[in-house]
Amino acid sequence: MTTIEMKKQNKVTTLSQFIAEEQAKYPGSSGNLSKIFRDIKLAAKMVNRDVRKAGLVDILGAHGSTNIQGEEVKKLDVIANEEFIHSLSSGGDCCAIISEEEDYVRHLNPEAKYVLAMDPLDGSSNIDVNAAIGTIFSIYRRVSPLGSEAIEADCLQKGENQVAAGYIIYGSSTMLVYTTGNGVNGFTLDGSIGDFCLSHPNMTTPEDGKIYSVNEGNYNKFPEGVKKYIEQCKDKAMSARYIGSMVADFHRNLIKGGIFMYPSTAKAPNGKLRLMYECNPMAFLTEQAGGRATTGSQRILEVEPTELHQRVPVIMGSSNMVSELESML
Ligand code: AHG
Ligand code: MN
Ligand code: MN
Repeated sequence: MTTIEMKKQNKVTTLSQFIAEEQAKYPGSSGNLSKIFRDIKLAAKMVNRDVRKAGLVDILGAHGSTNIQGEEVKKLDVIANEEFIHSLSSGGDCCAIISEEEDYVRHLNPEAKYVLAMDPLDGSSNIDVNAAIGTIFSIYRRVSPLGSEAIEADCLQKGENQVAAGYIIYGSSTMLVYTTGNGVNGFTLDGSIGDFCLSHPNMTTPEDGKIYSVNEGNYNKFPEGVKKYIEQCKDKAMSARYIGSMVADFHRNLIKGGIFMYPSTAKAPNGKLRLMYECNPMAFLTEQAGGRATTGSQRILEVEPTELHQRVPVIMGSSNMVSELESML
C-alpha cells in the first residue's frame, strides 16, 4: 500500500499531526515549539533535495574556508547552515541560533523564547562519497526575559535543560528522529507526498548490543581503559561498525544496540565532538531511548558548558555496554 492509500484510510500520521496531537496534551502551550518543528521540517526537506542532487549540481567539495574550529568547510556545510538559519529566522520563533558553522551567536527575534543549537551538516567527510550524512538540532528555552537580545546564559545551558532534540539522517531514506523528553519517535520522508510520516514510534535501544563504533585509527592514543574495552569487544567477536558520520553511526546503534565512542586522545584531551551541537542532543535522545551517555566521568547532560564550540569525550549507547566501559576507566 502506498502512503497516499494509507493516508486515505487514516493509517498515516504525519510529523505535523503527531506534533499537534502532542501539543494538545498541554492545553496552555503557546505552540511556538511546534512552529520551530515546522521550520526544521522545511529546512530538512530543502537540504534533502540538495543532498539528493549532489553530484549533478555544483555542491560537492570544499567551500574554500575553515570554520572557527579550524576544520575545512564543505559547500554543503554552508548551504545547510544557510537553509536552516533562513527557515528558522523567517519563522520567528527563535531568539538565537548557535551553529557549528557560525563563529558566534546568531541573534534572531528578541521576542521569541527558544534558542536552537545545530550541526547543520554532520559527517562532512562523507558528502563527496555518497554515504549517509545528517543534521543535528537541540532546543532550549531562554533564561533571560523576552524582548531583549539573547544572552550567553541562554545559549550555554546544560544538556538536561533541552526542551527537544533530534536529527535528520539523509541516508538510503531520509528520516527525522526527535524527542521532547517523552520518548523518541522516528519519521520517514515520503517523497511522493513531501512529508515525514511516523515510521518508528516509541524507539528504544537494546540494553546490550553487539556493535562497537569508534575510530580505531586513534587506538594508540586512547586511554588505557578504552583500549582494554576495545580488546574485550574483539575477544567477544563483536562487530566493528564506524562510518564517520555521527548521525549514521548513532542511528544504526540506536536501532540495533551498541556503543558509540569518541574518547579523549593524548592529542585531543576533549575528544572531537562538540557538546552543544552533537553530544547533548544525542545524549538526550540516547537517554530517552533507554541508553546512557557519558564523558567517561560525568553524565553528558550534566556537563556545564563554558564555550559555544566546546568539545567533550563521549561514550553513548546501550546502557550495559556504557556501564561496562565506564567501570574500566
Ligand atoms: P562534522 O562533519 O559535523 O564536522 O562532524 C564529523 C564528526 C562526526 O560526524 C563523526 O562521528 C566524527 O566527526 C568522525 O571523526 P573521525 O574522522 O575523526 O573519526
Ligand atoms: Mn558533526
Ligand atoms: Mn557539521
